Amino acid sequence: MAEQKPKFVGKLEWPVTVQLGRGMEGAISNESTIGYVDGEKGWLVYRGYNIFDLAEHSTYEETCYLLLFGKLPTKKEYEDFYMKLVGYRAVPNKVIELMKGLPKEVHPMAALRTGVSLLGCFDPKADDVTVENDTEIAIKLIARTSTVAAAWARIRKGLEPVDPDPSLGHAANFLYMATGEKPDDFTARVMDICLILHADHGMNASTFTSMVINSSLSDLYSTVVGGIGSLKGPLHGGANERALAEVMTIKDEDDAVRYVKDAIVQKKKIMGFGHRVYKAYDPRAKVLGQYSQKVTQMKGMENLYKIAKKVEEEVIAAYGERGIFPNVDFYSGTIYYALGIDVPLFTPIFAVSRVAGWCARVLEYLPINRIFRPRAVYVGAMEQKYTPIDQR
Ligand SMILES: CC(C)(COP(=O)(O)OP(=O)(O)OC[C@H]1O[C@@H](n2cnc3c(N)ncnc32)[C@H](O)[C@@H]1OP(=O)(O)O)[C@@H](O)C(=O)NCCC(=O)NCCS
Repeated sequence: MAEQKPKFVGKLEWPVTVQLGRGMEGAISNESTIGYVDGEKGWLVYRGYNIFDLAEHSTYEETCYLLLFGKLPTKKEYEDFYMKLVGYRAVPNKVIELMKGLPKEVHPMAALRTGVSLLGCFDPKADDVTVENDTEIAIKLIARTSTVAAAWARIRKGLEPVDPDPSLGHAANFLYMATGEKPDDFTARVMDICLILHADHGMNASTFTSMVINSSLSDLYSTVVGGIGSLKGPLHGGANERALAEVMTIKDEDDAVRYVKDAIVQKKKIMGFGHRVYKAYDPRAKVLGQYSQKVTQMKGMENLYKIAKKVEEEVIAAYGERGIFPNVDFYSGTIYYALGIDVPLFTPIFAVSRVAGWCARVLEYLPINRIFRPRAVYVGAMEQKYTPIDQR
């Protein structure tokens, strides 16, 4: 059966009546024209464009333009934007020097968080919080988050960072800076698609974190640093590393059956599965699953894909009725691993892409900014009597 096409969603009448769950489930933070996720139908749309079309036809650079400016660029707009990104790739030397002082064993997301914070310290216009200036910073951040993440990929191994190569596209250049080797066209395209698929995803934890920080009219660097901090957790972006680590412990397809059974008996959450919004198959996982099959085959790692696929089948057989399917983090790890990327760099790659969504969303909100300020329900004691410290 042909897939249903996403349809227009109307504007809200504020205030909105919603049903809330813990973790702000069901709460609505704002209206947006940037991206749409329909968890029941398994739809993901950026600015009206279906993610399947973007993954097939677009590039990460074009997707960033689309997210930031709300339309697909003309050829000239694309070239100008592309060249601007290229021009912004290099980061101040001092940032790299300071990053070299970090302990090599810190998690790359901690190093990335620090590196992006340093970028802000070296930008004299960081605190000029206007749409115009923040748009320019957003483009810088999209270009430089990649450079900082790749620099740390080298520094943590005692290697010198590799300068960006202006002849390469964003995805290929990231791989080149991280590994020191220029990727072939197919590898570069796979990375490009991964970046497209991770660029935005509704009001997830890191995007909301970014929105909250920016809504106090803080600078865009602080906003992205906050986004990185939130993305780092294993219930969010950090799941891709954990998912791969778990799949790597499985010997073969029979062992995959055992692995899922054990997880079910132990009531253990299986990394890379389930989603707060998607109760249908995550469209990003659909695309990534196909590329995982291709890339693992190309790199002679078919077994990795077969095991992952078996885990998927078993989890869906057990939990599919409850709406638990693979999410974006399940197959991305198998792809990165097959491409020879170190596991601790998986979550930074997510950030290298998602910086576009964070920036687009806070820029959209800035002209109509209202500081975020939900309330907690107080359920603690009242009428306590204060006892001086020496009488307690
Ligand atoms: C993503 C995630 C945090 C969404 O969480 P949520 O909307 O808060 O859902 P909950 O954690 O409340 O889970 C709801 C139910 O589904 C189960 N469930 C959710 N994800 C599960 C998973 N990956 N494996 C097994 N069971 C899972 C929970 O155990 C819970 O069961 P219960 O009702 O019997 O207690 C959750 O699915 C998860 O932790 N997944 C693993 C981490 C991951 O892959 N994160 C990346 C997300 S892109």
